[in-house]
Amino acid sequence: MCTDTQAAHNIVHYQINTTYCGWSEFKPQYIVESTTIPLNRCKDLVVCCGGDADHRSPSSSAHSAQLWAWLFLIAFGADEVIFWRELRARSFIARCTIFFNTPAKLTLTKFLGLPFFIYLDNAATSFPKPESVYAEQDYAARNYGANPGRGSYEIARMAAQVMASTREAIADLFNISPSSRIAFTCNATQGINIALSGLLEPEHRVVTTSIEHNAVIRPLHHLQHHGIEVFKVTADARGLVTPEDIYNVCREVTPKLVVITHCSNVTGAVQPVAEIGRFCHEHGIIFMLDAAQSAGVLPIDVEAMHIDILVAPGHKALLGPQGTGFLYVRDGLKLKPLIRGGTGNLSSQAHQPTEMPELLESGTPNATALAGLRAGIKYILQRGMENIRAHELCLLQLLWSGLGEIPGVRCYGPEPGPRHSGLISFTLDNHTTAEVGFFLDQQFNIGVRTGLHCAPDAHKTIGTYPGGTVRVSPGCFNTEQHIYTFIQAIKSITSQPS
Ligand SMILES: Cc1ncc(COP(=O)(O)O)c(C=O)c1O
Repeated sequence: MCTDTQAAHNIVHYQINTTYCGWSEFKPQYIVESTTIPLNRCKDLVVCCGGDADHRSPSSSAHSAQLWAWLFLIAFGADEVIFWRELRARSFIARCTIFFNTPAKLTLTKFLGLPFFIYLDNAATSFPKPESVYAEQDYAARNYGANPGRGSYEIARMAAQVMASTREAIADLFNISPSSRIAFTCNATQGINIALSGLLEPEHRVVTTSIEHNAVIRPLHHLQHHGIEVFKVTADARGLVTPEDIYNVCREVTPKLVVITHCSNVTGAVQPVAEIGRFCHEHGIIFMLDAAQSAGVLPIDVEAMHIDILVAPGHKALLGPQGTGFLYVRDGLKLKPLIRGGTGNLSSQAHQPTEMPELLESGTPNATALAGLRAGIKYILQRGMENIRAHELCLLQLLWSGLGEIPGVRCYGPEPGPRHSGLISFTLDNHTTAEVGFFLDQQFNIGVRTGLHCAPDAHKTIGTYPGGTVRVSPGCFNTEQHIYTFIQAIKSITSQPS
């Protein structure tokens, strides 16, 4: 059992009870039939009215069903309504099937307080966000949407204050001191680019792995044309890197930098970063961690793990809005800025301020989104990162065992546990990954990611290149029911012709 009850607000089922309400007597009398409507079948909401032949006539049941159906039609703008009647032994039922188009589904599910879609793509970006994230952004935008750090009036100070407190919240979460060593970015990619291009010079050597995201691969590939040498350590078929393999390459090539991803966005493999960090520290190598898939769900302590540069998005497991992220640079480490411009301070100088965070933060920041990020971090602390991790692990275990029982399904990566986090990647023998994604979307209203997930090397490593995998990544608001519905959907897809 996944015990974390906070996920319950995402419940999948809606119970509709239709009552007898014929044209003449419009009073609820009998609860005739209850129809459970999984949200993924919300297209065909069935309204059933009927009952015991001693008490009701077929025509009153039909009228009742029609009335309900038309009410839904008018209230939610359903596409089409189909009526039919059934006679069963001594009872009869009139049914109306209502087909909803997407805007109508949205209205209906909003009315019911439920998402109309089962979202299982949290590795791409977390959704939904905690209510407080929406509320904080709304409040910030309406009440202090001024330019932070640029004005000396009250609401500009409030905007600057929200940025300062978000920086502090990040610093506390990752044991960073002082918080000024954190620069805000739009996402993890921007942070990685700033760090790599700001640190590396011609003839520098970099050690990385075969399991990285394009956010690391592409800037490094570009830098190779500028005299930087890149050495890739191959991960095993589950995406796990052996630290000794990294140490051996480092001893051979004496790199300036080791850069790795904490948790693979393709297999969920979690790398032993504390060990690798210690080695780098002892050998004078800068250690940079891409925490895109781990920040907010796995503990990260920059001091204990000897992380010199940490990059994370705000919009994934930190539960903040899109367009947020950060880059931490250890005190004493100097980076060249990628972007230069207005910082709101030292305006008379033509050169970029040399102090963090202004060194790496030019132009108007998205303070409203950062207010949302602060709320996301607060939510994590209130619910407990270990509780969120335990909840997600439980869902991943259900997925792993459920998918493992379906003939023709092949799962990749380590089994859910200490060396794994966040997602399950799999393929089906009789369907391409694109087909699976299409069927899940069109037939079951379930969203997952398919293909290469911006990490082609990782697929070459685990043997799923070029088709890639279906990646299912539950988040802290998914429930067991979502996972059961998903597994049923995969069972159904495996039995369909390709
Ligand atoms: C491992 C890894 N690194 C970097 C990124 C890039 O993150 P962002 O989309 O915030 O730039 C991702 C995104 O999925 C990722 O999974």
